[in-house]
Amino acid sequence: MLGTGLTPRLEVLGDIIPVGRRNPSPNITVYGDLSDPLFATQLLDDHRPDIIVHTVALTDVDQCEKNIRAAFETNVQTTRNIVSWALKNAPETRLVYVSTDQVYGGPGPHGEESINPLNVYGMTKLWGEDVARNLEHSLILRTNFFSLGTELRQGFAGWLIESFQQKRSITLFEDVWFNPLYVTDLSNLIVAFIKRNLTGTFNVGASETGLSKAEFALKLATQLGLDGSNTKTGSVQSADLLAPRPHDMRMLVGKVESAMNIGLPSVEDGLRQLAKDWQESVAASSGIEA
Ligand SMILES: NC(=O)c1ccc[n+]([C@@H]2O[C@H](COP(=O)([O-])OP(=O)(O)OC[C@H]3O[C@@H](n4cnc5c(N)ncnc54)[C@H](OP(=O)(O)O)[C@@H]3O)[C@@H](O)[C@H]2O)c1
Repeated sequence: MLGTGLTPRLEVLGDIIPVGRRNPSPNITVYGDLSDPLFATQLLDDHRPDIIVHTVALTDVDQCEKNIRAAFETNVQTTRNIVSWALKNAPETRLVYVSTDQVYGGPGPHGEESINPLNVYGMTKLWGEDVARNLEHSLILRTNFFSLGTELRQGFAGWLIESFQQKRSITLFEDVWFNPLYVTDLSNLIVAFIKRNLTGTFNVGASETGLSKAEFALKLATQLGLDGSNTKTGSVQSADLLAPRPHDMRMLVGKVESAMNIGLPSVEDGLRQLAKDWQESVAASSGIEA
């Protein structure tokens, strides 16, 4: 999902080699399993990249809980393979490791020092971060983002839009808070961080105080002019989810704003941009000019 938005934007930096595992995407030019040390080493030997942007993950939180081995292989072993190759062959390699707001638990908003992962996903992402930090030029970005989704992954916003359109009755959590960025804003920020040679660990979320998933959903419906009246609000506690979920994933973003001397976009900014992109895609699919 992030790779689809990010790949075209990275092209301003030079030649890029987008890597995926097996699911076809028009962006991807090389397929293989980065948790396999032989594949990872061969790939990196062949291309000797200056910069690696690592967006590989097993992001399904319940899958991670159910299949710890897969969570380790995808979230940790891929990072180990990349970092081992770089330490041995090119320690100056720059690595951008995309992490998550699920490394936090307890009341937020969270500064970068207050880690407390509650589930296997958060723990393995944090482990991946620690591996990435072995490289001097690593940049670790803890983030959450929303997008219109892809053919392969609908994502939260994509699922909400479909639910509104189909007038499906859904329950929205009023006790889970976050401050996500729109995928395009996050992608542009990643490019800006790379251009600025930023290193270290940073929260990269929307500015301002964040909101609940229920508030986000209703703002999305309003922004797109969709009917959100079929929804009801409830607690994440009452949903029978396998993995424990943090209630408050809101991140403080002052550290990255100071380092870059910028203000990050707000959730509203992101939703406006998403609405524009959605209208354009609806118009394109029905052959009408937006
Ligand atoms: N989605 C969110 O809301 C969210 C929130 C916070 C942070 N993040 C972080 O953002 C990053 C991107 O997330 P996303 O939602 O874009 O993930 P995604 O849509 O699931 O994409 C993950 C990509 O990694 C590839 N991949 C998985 N295992 C691989 C392996 N062993 N070797 C090579 N490629 C492999 C997948 O290929 P296949 O499809 O072929 O398996 C897929 O292209 C992740 O680091 C995630 O932790 C995501």
